[in-house]
Amino acid sequence: MTLEGNGSGLQHRHLLGLETWSADEIKTVHAAARQFREVLDRPIRQVPSLRGVTVVNLFFEASTRTRVSFELAEKRLSADTVNFAASGSSVSKGETLKDTAQNIEAMKIDMVVVRHRSPGAPQFLTRCVDATVINAGDGAHEHPTQALLDTLTITEYHPDLTGLRVSILGDIMFSRVARSNIYALAALGAEITLCGPRTLIPPGINEMVPGGLRITHRLDEALEGCDVAMALRIQLERQGRQLFPSVREYHNQFGITRAHLDQHPDMLVMHPGPVNRGVELASDVVDHERAVILSQVTNGVAVRMAVLYLLSGRSLTA
Ligand code: CP
Repeated sequence: MTLEGNGSGLQHRHLLGLETWSADEIKTVHAAARQFREVLDRPIRQVPSLRGVTVVNLFFEASTRTRVSFELAEKRLSADTVNFAASGSSVSKGETLKDTAQNIEAMKIDMVVVRHRSPGAPQFLTRCVDATVINAGDGAHEHPTQALLDTLTITEYHPDLTGLRVSILGDIMFSRVARSNIYALAALGAEITLCGPRTLIPPGINEMVPGGLRITHRLDEALEGCDVAMALRIQLERQGRQLFPSVREYHNQFGITRAHLDQHPDMLVMHPGPVNRGVELASDVVDHERAVILSQVTNGVAVRMAVLYLLSGRSLTA
């Protein structure tokens, strides 16, 4: 298997967010990810593409999917990896992000994957280190690899996203997943509807992308004619105050149930995880064949392999 070029097709040296990424760049990542997806289905799921490249995973915030997925992607590419978690590190002694990153870079690393509670932390790192920086989620700002894997998953059912109707549901205000998906879906030509309680949809969000977004506070309106319903996790840890009456009330108004699946027989359901069962999605919806949540997770490894490979500038032979 050979990929063209040395990572060409990307105009960016880092992946900080998708706001400035073109449709062509997103499709370049998808194309590479599809090839890596085939590698993941082989008996030996490893290629030598990043042999000799050292990647450090800096996780200052909790993660299951993203962290395991990046670690697996790096191992599948034969990179050398180091995992850093803030707990148990010198961050607890007061060391700053800049000092932490510069000290780790002094040990000779090539790429940094960073998750941090502060929006802009990955951008800040690009000014502190020479390594390539990949954003694995920064506060409520962006989670670009999640949107790349979400849009890749959609293409398995709808190869062309032009005019595809995607509804993003729930906690838009605090969701980095929503922001990255809005940029990616808009770049790929999808028609985006946002739906949630008034308190969880920030004013002015419809100006995020040229052409704007449709906004509704009624789930039935959001699901009418919808091809893909993307439910978001209610992020109680970021909200800081009560923004809706109760979790039960939220589920009654904005949760997707089996009845919604029956009413919309062609609609796919997505969720970035972790899912609050019985809140964003009824438990039997999570396990339904039209909920593609675990495909999203599998595609996450392939997308992260693609991003690491393309940003490394290496050419691939497998
Ligand atoms: N989707 C996602 O970012 O999940 P984690 O927080 O478990 O990484």
